[in-house]
Amino acid sequence: MSQMSNRCYRLRRRPTGAVADEDLELLREPIPRIGPGQALIRTLWLSLDPANRIWMSEIHYNMPPVPIGGIMRGFGIGQVVESLRDDMKAGDLVSGITGWADYAVADATNLVPFSVLPSPLPGPPTLLLGPLGHTGVTAYLGVQDIGRPQPGETMVVSAAAGAVGSVAGQIGKARGARVVGTAGSREKCRHVVEALGFDACVNYRDTDWREQLDAATPDGIDVDFENVGGQILDHVVTRLNVGARIALCGLISDYNGYSSPGGRQQARVGVEQIYLSRALLRSFLVLDHTDRFPEAIAYLAGLIDEGKLEYDETVVEGLENAPIALGQMFEGANTGKLLVKVAEPL
Ligand SMILES: NC(=O)c1ccc[n+]([C@@H]2O[C@H](COP(=O)([O-])OP(=O)(O)OC[C@H]3O[C@@H](n4cnc5c(N)ncnc54)[C@H](OP(=O)(O)O)[C@@H]3O)[C@@H](O)[C@H]2O)c1
Repeated sequence: MSQMSNRCYRLRRRPTGAVADEDLELLREPIPRIGPGQALIRTLWLSLDPANRIWMSEIHYNMPPVPIGGIMRGFGIGQVVESLRDDMKAGDLVSGITGWADYAVADATNLVPFSVLPSPLPGPPTLLLGPLGHTGVTAYLGVQDIGRPQPGETMVVSAAAGAVGSVAGQIGKARGARVVGTAGSREKCRHVVEALGFDACVNYRDTDWREQLDAATPDGIDVDFENVGGQILDHVVTRLNVGARIALCGLISDYNGYSSPGGRQQARVGVEQIYLSRALLRSFLVLDHTDRFPEAIAYLAGLIDEGKLEYDETVVEGLENAPIALGQMFEGANTGKLLVKVAEPL
């Protein structure tokens, strides 16, 4: 075993605003000992997700809040070190809720069961946290089930340079739509157009971004793949065409305001605009659709094979840097999937 202790982040207090140093504590604890029906998992990669911030609040999102004193929740990829389970053996790569820790225990109490990754892998393991994992499947469900852009229609994607948005926009392109992104810098916008193939991308930090978005969507908006909410969604709904669809994937601009259930900001969706455009607005959660993962991953792998799906990763080295990296995600530091590299496989 490469380490004699288990470094883990425990939630010390619930954040108010952006995640602060004092919210999490890095401890060194004994490596868990396993019993019958359990396997010891060594974390290799952590996926940083906006949902991490929600799980730190008191809000019950898709899972109960992380308890104060509990190990910070997070999806990841790990390697089985020792197993007393029939379905896992030492050396297997697995995905699941590793948590922000060097080691985790895979057993029947896991909120999401660990699953053994296919061997051989379809590519680098991080693909299975990005476009061929929950990130890609989220984009797939939002576009294919809710947005359903048709050739000639206009689709807008917010946080277009991010993990989900970049995939969603490219699925929209593969379906023949005109796809317009929004992102938080000129460099990101250039990347979204030149490398990811969007038709246009608007930097929402420009003072005239609304005029730019209007100019980029001259025929109005038929589909909104919404990752951000706030002022972006407020403006997008003013341009909806009759029969538009909004795939409400996330509202990241609000999450740093999440503390207690009564304390969060209200999403300022223009209900009147949605009414007037006879639009469909539907939210969804990828973990409600685990049965759809094989179908989605087959589709996404096909797009990669056809050269129609480019993806980016921003890798942060070291478990100790996970809190800073999560905070920086809310400032737009990442392009594509944000990952923490925790350890090399044995
Ligand atoms: N429904 C589901 O099942 C599901 C699953 C996964 C993710 N999601 C949601 O999908 C969205 C994207 O998640 P992701 O994992 O792909 O993250 P991501 O887009 O890779 O990273 C988040 C990005 O959001 C942008 N952002 C952060 N704060 C912002 C703000 N106040 N205003 C505007 N943009 C802001 C930043 O890019 P800029 O530089 O462009 O600002 C940042 O890079 C999130 O809302 C998340 O909650 C939903």
